[in-house]
Amino acid sequence: MIAFLKTSYRRARKFLRKAKPADGAESLRARFTGVYRSAAWGSSESLSGPGSERNSGSVRQALVALSQIVEKYEIRSVADIPCGDFNWMPEFLEKHPSVAYAGYDIVGGLISQNRKSNPAFNFHVLDITEQVPPRADLIFSKDLVNHLMDKDVWKALANMVRSGATYVMITSNSVSTPNEDLPRNVGGMSRLLNLRTEPFSLPTPVYEDGYLAMWRTEDLVSVLDHKP
Ligand SMILES: C[S@@+](CC[C@H](N)C(=O)[O-])C[C@H]1O[C@@H](n2cnc3c(N)ncnc32)[C@H](O)[C@@H]1O
Repeated sequence: MIAFLKTSYRRARKFLRKAKPADGAESLRARFTGVYRSAAWGSSESLSGPGSERNSGSVRQALVALSQIVEKYEIRSVADIPCGDFNWMPEFLEKHPSVAYAGYDIVGGLISQNRKSNPAFNFHVLDITEQVPPRADLIFSKDLVNHLMDKDVWKALANMVRSGATYVMITSNSVSTPNEDLPRNVGGMSRLLNLRTEPFSLPTPVYEDGYLAMWRTEDLVSVLDHKP
């Protein structure tokens, strides 16, 4: 009996080893759950990393961008994809209490934690590369595409457009160096990504500050034609 169990155990381990992709790639959910559990982005203030700390340059710039566009474009609802640990967004929502907010993230643990700490707001588990989110006037997507491989950036853009949102504001770094794909889908790795240049070559946005850019989704329907 013991010999039989030992053989079954060895066979199961062999099967699981084979099932793991050869390049060490992980599923997106496993990857970002691992980042969350190990606090791999190394900030003592935010599980979403130094770029989500309230006084970081990224957050200050995001708050300026959001406050500039919210009235000008009559934004009444925001889908924050990804919301991460919701560390800094309350500062925007306190100043704009009439904006209906919903936060989405691929990591279930983050969503449970956000629901407990912020019961006044809605949070949902969602993988933007696989699911179409409910409609909002604006999809706000800070510091997501930099962490995704190009094939997943295309899928995320397509689902944002499919949602029927009027606008999408997405991190797009105004760098002149050519975009490079992430080598693998592992850990917290990222790279600068300019959505205005190849292979994405998105059209002229209605707002751009070198870090975040905003498009009318009707100007992005061509991303739906992209075939992997
Ligand atoms: C660097 S954090 C940024 C969080 C937030 N936007 C901020 O600025 O504080 C990146 C987040 O993207 C989430 N994420 C990664 N892939 C995702 C996907 N496919 N769908 C939804 N969320 C995803 C991760 O779980 C993580 O919380």
